[in-house]
Amino acid sequence: MRKPIIAANWKLNKGPSDTEDFIKSFESRLADLPKGVDIVIAPPFVSLPKATELLAHSKVRVSAQNMSEKDNGAFTGEVSAFMLKEIFVNYVILGHSERRAIYGESDELINTKILKAHEVELKPIFCIGETLQEREDGKLEEILRTQITEGMKNVSEKQALDTVIAYEPVWAIGTGVTASPKQAQDAHEFVRSVFTDLYGISVSEKIRIQYGGSVKPDNAAELLGQKDIDGALVGGASLEAASFAELIKNGVVE
Ligand code: PGA
Repeated sequence: MRKPIIAANWKLNKGPSDTEDFIKSFESRLADLPKGVDIVIAPPFVSLPKATELLAHSKVRVSAQNMSEKDNGAFTGEVSAFMLKEIFVNYVILGHSERRAIYGESDELINTKILKAHEVELKPIFCIGETLQEREDGKLEEILRTQITEGMKNVSEKQALDTVIAYEPVWAIGTGVTASPKQAQDAHEFVRSVFTDLYGISVSEKIRIQYGGSVKPDNAAELLGQKDIDGALVGGASLEAASFAELIKNGVVE
């Protein structure tokens, strides 16, 4: 059985003081939430130290939303994997469609970042997903296969097991349009089959694949109820502690 993992991607929201407010409110709701789920929050860089400090003794883990593929040097504005480790960050979201589309991140760059994250034992949440045009052109499988194969290049079997995959159809992110449970399940099943091709079935059966794209408290149960959906990467509905907690409660049936 794969343990579900639900992560809050706050994007460009919540400085340290809003982060503190959220964590205090969310922690007070933790006792009511299912136990068999990994919970992760991903605040912006400047709020990470506050988050890891407040959550030092919590089951809630902390993720960065991005990082540099470089260790140090003349790279203005960048943050390294080692720096994230130094402040006790556990995960890092890599290859989010906003990084790909707005900041031009390529499969090759994302692969370098994934390898770097594993080098310092940060767990990547590796995002993949097709645009609406790509889906309508019948290229869904081709796009996903390329993103996975390129992104996982030289990633060992053991590292693959420590990688969380987030399938996020670009057309469902922040739009209020969710993939239907069947569309999501079909894509997840395909994603898992690509991992079977790359690493064999005993590995692919253990890899956790989150769904992302307009996941809300009221659609979490049917999405997470699908066989190959092992959690969610949540943007909008993760910004309020009450809604994030409700989403987890609805999505994880014990
Ligand atoms: P959304 O964002 O839940 O607001 O659609 C998801 C994501 O971008 O990870």
